Amino acid sequence: MRDLDENSITEAVLARFGATPDARLKQVMAGLVRHLHDFVREVEPSFDEWNAAIDFLTRTGQMCSDTRQEFILLSDTLGVSMLVDVINHRMPEGATPTTVLGPFFVANAPELPLGADVSGGLPGEPLYVEGSVASALGGKLAGAAIDIWHSDSEGYYDVQRPDLDRPALRARFRADREGRFRFWSIMPSSYPVPNDGPVGRMLAATGRHPYRPAHVHFMIAAEGYETLVTHVFVAGDAYLDSDVVFGVKEALIREYAHEPPGTAPDGRRMRAPWRRLQYDFALKPLAPAG
Ligand code: BEZ
Ligand code: FE
Repeated sequence: MRDLDENSITEAVLARFGATPDARLKQVMAGLVRHLHDFVREVEPSFDEWNAAIDFLTRTGQMCSDTRQEFILLSDTLGVSMLVDVINHRMPEGATPTTVLGPFFVANAPELPLGADVSGGLPGEPLYVEGSVASALGGKLAGAAIDIWHSDSEGYYDVQRPDLDRPALRARFRADREGRFRFWSIMPSSYPVPNDGPVGRMLAATGRHPYRPAHVHFMIAAEGYETLVTHVFVAGDAYLDSDVVFGVKEALIREYAHEPPGTAPDGRRMRAPWRRLQYDFALKPLAPAG
């Protein structure tokens, strides 16, 4: 354990964790040490560079608050959040794919009746959303809880608008007896992730843009099923192939169909063109206990 060189130091550190009582913790620490040491051997940082890295992580922590999680954003923009998601959601055939939760979900959003308008009077192209919730094994899921949230026509969520004093473009619905749901809103827009902190500076320094393609978020919960966290992306969006958080999956892209003025499916008279999204979700059954 003396005169350790640039290779033998790795084995020495691993040995120091050898008595870790929790087998999983021991595995995690060993993996971390091995990969960190390999990273340093590959990159060979100067002291200035290593100090800059420590400073970056320090500033990332300092940027975090009750309403801002810069470390999750770092994980998102490095593709780690989606990697963790993929590993933890090996979905059966027929189940709707998952994607990142993002920072704009708010628990306990107002529960609204099916068909309600969640736009809160915000300007934008009217959007009618309808669909269903079923088991991936077949069979509708009556009463499933459906949380939805999305950006406005300028790319902001309600929680980013100090001028708004109540929730907008977010709500919880309950699927009807057929597992169906519907609501009105306005078209979401593509938007930049928060980029006024260290992660934004990392994106700028590496020539990356901070944008996500336009989408509506869904979180769908039903007893006996894995809660589905996903989005439905707007087909044709310019950022589908360069989402800053790597969250796009082909099966989650849909046409938000252009509809002419006339009568909407729920009888609403539309004097201007409007958009229509239809999506049928399928949830993965929970593994039986034990
Ligand atoms: C979002 O879609 O709301 C989001 C996801 C990851 C990072 C930032 C925003
Ligand atoms: Fe989003």
